[in-house]
Amino acid sequence: MKKYTDIYDLENIPRTIQDTIQLKKNPHQYESLGKQKTLVMLFFNSSLRTRLSTEKAAKNLGMNVMILNINNAWNLEFEDGTLMNLTTSEHVKEAAQVLSQYADIIAIRAFPSLKDKQKDTSETILKSFEKYASVPIINMESSTAHPLQALTDAITIEEFKTTAQPKVVLSWAPHPKALPHAVANSFVKMMRTLNIDFSITHPKGYELDSEITQDTPINYNQKEALENADFVYVKNWSSYTDYGKILSQNTAWMLTKEKLGAAKCMHCLPVRRNVVIEDAVLDSTQSIVIPQANNRTYAAQIVLKKLLENL
Ligand code: CP
Repeated sequence: MKKYTDIYDLENIPRTIQDTIQLKKNPHQYESLGKQKTLVMLFFNSSLRTRLSTEKAAKNLGMNVMILNINNAWNLEFEDGTLMNLTTSEHVKEAAQVLSQYADIIAIRAFPSLKDKQKDTSETILKSFEKYASVPIINMESSTAHPLQALTDAITIEEFKTTAQPKVVLSWAPHPKALPHAVANSFVKMMRTLNIDFSITHPKGYELDSEITQDTPINYNQKEALENADFVYVKNWSSYTDYGKILSQNTAWMLTKEKLGAAKCMHCLPVRRNVVIEDAVLDSTQSIVIPQANNRTYAAQIVLKKLLENL
């Protein structure tokens, strides 16, 4: 594997899921693979899980890790041919090449603006680093994708499923802030590769990019959609068609114990309690959000392992 910016960079997803479950049993078995190799992680935005699980994964493989919160560095320019006489101090052309001399792998987190659809979907930051860096790039959540989270989610479903083809429902939930589509997009892409019964439920107006959802069933009636589900994956996202807008704060879409039925509840975290998911769900044994977050380490580790093996 030469990069991990999208789930389709994985050559064999079912095999990768099984390999990760094996790796998890003995996470230190490849601790010499990353010896004298360095992971540089660049954060344009906040993180708890991605930052620490990826660092832990790299250290399990014996790598050195350097982390830069980009707000503490020079303001980067991404446009070509710009007269840089305003707020940006360094062009990504130099920054990416310089970082490639310090790093064997570069991982980047860069959220969308949710204001300019065209700019966000063009993935300027991620693509610029892919273009100018000479080392593999990992997407730690970009404008449109969160592939480390999606691999984590697939591993978690594989571990917790009790039937061969579980029913998995991605359910929109309310949130006071406009949130990106990245987690939902990558989750949909990942679920569509698995042999499962997958559907989406959200209020009208919250349709995701149709190039991603394709023929995935969408049910605008949440209660009906969740009936007999094995896994309910809860996530808020802002409107994609009315880009970045909050169209509804309808509290009736919060996931409750009653609507969950006998299903397991998943969420990428962080989660706003009693807004997105009620306490009675998160504090119950049906919530698997904590073991799900634990799997972030092993998803990152299998990705780093595949990249290190190809350096
Ligand atoms: N799920 C996730 O990406 O968490 P962080 O934003 O804390 O990294």
